[in-house]
Amino acid sequence: MSANPIVPASDAAIAAAAAALRAGKLVAFPTETVYGLGADATNGAAVAGIYEAKGRPRFNPLISHVDGVAAAAAIAVLDSRAQALAAAFWPGPLTMVLPRSADCPVSELATAGLDSIAVRVPSHPVALALLTAVGRPVVAPSANRSGRVSATTAEHVATDLGDRVALILDSGPTEHGVESTVIDLTASRVRLLRPGAAAADSIERVLASPLVRSEGDRHRPNAPGQLESHYAPQALVRLDAAAPRPGEALLAFGPLVPRHDGPMLNLSAAGDLREAAANLFSALRKLDATGVSCIAVMPVADAGLGEAINDRLRRAAAPRP
Ligand code: TXA
Ligand code: MG
Repeated sequence: MSANPIVPASDAAIAAAAAALRAGKLVAFPTETVYGLGADATNGAAVAGIYEAKGRPRFNPLISHVDGVAAAAAIAVLDSRAQALAAAFWPGPLTMVLPRSADCPVSELATAGLDSIAVRVPSHPVALALLTAVGRPVVAPSANRSGRVSATTAEHVATDLGDRVALILDSGPTEHGVESTVIDLTASRVRLLRPGAAAADSIERVLASPLVRSEGDRHRPNAPGQLESHYAPQALVRLDAAAPRPGEALLAFGPLVPRHDGPMLNLSAAGDLREAAANLFSALRKLDATGVSCIAVMPVADAGLGEAINDRLRRAAAPRP
């Protein structure tokens, strides 16, 4: 977009960044761990723009950043363990995976269709001021292209993503340089999903119980971003369907849709991949909820975001364990 998107993180720049986020643009901002590539979490097309900019081959679920416990409670359910951890670690580099609240406004793309949501309250004053000014949850993966090291300075971000963001709020190198610790509180025992800047033993002290380590569990590899959990519909999924068969639901894509009497949703009648990505998980969920035994999916072009869309569709269609 602009030639040099780096701006010092003044009050005016933070206000401009908040306005850009509310308008659906991408903004990079500092946190105490690494720089984040932010988008309005409630805007599916903006969230799709993150995957597009990062060149991510997959729709991994993203962390929703908010400015405090009250905002966290609007998008997630915090049980007594989560409240104790929030009191001890927030604001700070701890991300909690929690059940989504019933009226959670965060895009299903941001949570990859899961019933859970990752939430964090960063301690960096620029990040906090930005989140308060936006007034909405902001999803932010580390602001580097997929496969590159996480960005710890504004210059790193500019090198990787400078042409993709409305602006980069600069406040110098980040404090920790490693990402937040991610823990999963959706089961009775708390699981460590990603070691990070918050020490595991201090989390265990607050919980008064050990964290379940993911090592050795082939379904949940320990490496960052390698998490395998993903939304799986009840219905079977039939890919590359030219036309639906009787009794199937149709997940269409593009302007040329075959005639169909059963349940049907179009990922994007215009054939727009960003719109299709934004609609993907909610469309699968809605068609699944009709109770059909199979969802027929029309082909989606494998370019750009289409690669990530097809990756998710293939997994949805894969034989169930
Ligand atoms: O320090 C950080 O956390 C940085 C800064 C920018 O805040 N952000 C970051 O985001 O590292 P990202 O997208 O690179 O990492 C998100 C991690 C991934 O490992 C992802 O699988 C996990 O959080 N995650 C997100 N939502 C999840 C969910 N619902 N269930 C399980 N894991 C989830
Ligand atoms: Mg990352």
